Amino acid sequence: MTAARTPVVAGNWKMNPADRAAATALAVAVSEATAGMAARIVVCPPTVWLTAVSEALDGGRAAAGSVAVGAQTMRAEEKGAFTGETSPLMLAGLAQYVIIGHSERRQYDNETDAAVAAKVASAIAHGLIPIACIGESADERRAGLTAVVIERQLRAAISRLERIAGSGLVVAYEPIWAIGTGDAASGEDAQAAAAQVRAILAESDPAGADEVAILYGGSATPENAAEYVAQPDVDGALVGGASLDAERFAGIARAAVEAGE
Ligand code: 13P
Repeated sequence: MTAARTPVVAGNWKMNPADRAAATALAVAVSEATAGMAARIVVCPPTVWLTAVSEALDGGRAAAGSVAVGAQTMRAEEKGAFTGETSPLMLAGLAQYVIIGHSERRQYDNETDAAVAAKVASAIAHGLIPIACIGESADERRAGLTAVVIERQLRAAISRLERIAGSGLVVAYEPIWAIGTGDAASGEDAQAAAAQVRAILAESDPAGADEVAILYGGSATPENAAEYVAQPDVDGALVGGASLDAERFAGIARAAVEAGE
């Protein structure tokens, strides 16, 4: 963290929880547990719970805290014959953020670098903040390809943006081998990736690159979060499992806030 950037701590709930009451209760608990923190706190529920969570948080203006809502994916197009999909127009008023290119979508739903490029540009064009996810697999890491994969995925993700400055872009480095495994990356690994991301962004837009929040994701916990946010280029976390427990999620946010002070 540097004090120049506001920390971003986003919870990717993935396909949880299974019912609406649990989703709204978790959102409210996060709002209470993070109240007053000088951080951008985001919860990303399943699409079907976006309306209920947004209402429970009063569209991000909940009395207890100020929690923003993010979608976990979207289609780039505004409307049309895309069965099962959600458009950026539909997210307006429900979500301020949208996760794009999560490795689980790349792996299970065949989301390509080209689709990620279109979605990142579309999100920004529709006033949403994209959290663009990049990160290498275990095989790629073993083959020494981490930097190659980061570069390819990042260059694709920003390929349809005219400028970085003012775009709101957030980038999450999530090594696939660290997701849900308990085998979290080291602070040095996270910093190396984040510094590489910022350097690539700076090639076309040095001022814009300084604005971008770069997050670490992959088995982030309240216990290890301080190690990430102590790194100069890591500005927060994208949290899976630990985001389903409001107190643990708030613990990660607290670490990020303290690192930025
Ligand atoms: P875990 O925190 O459960 O490893 O998940 C990370 C992730 O995929 C967030 O998008």
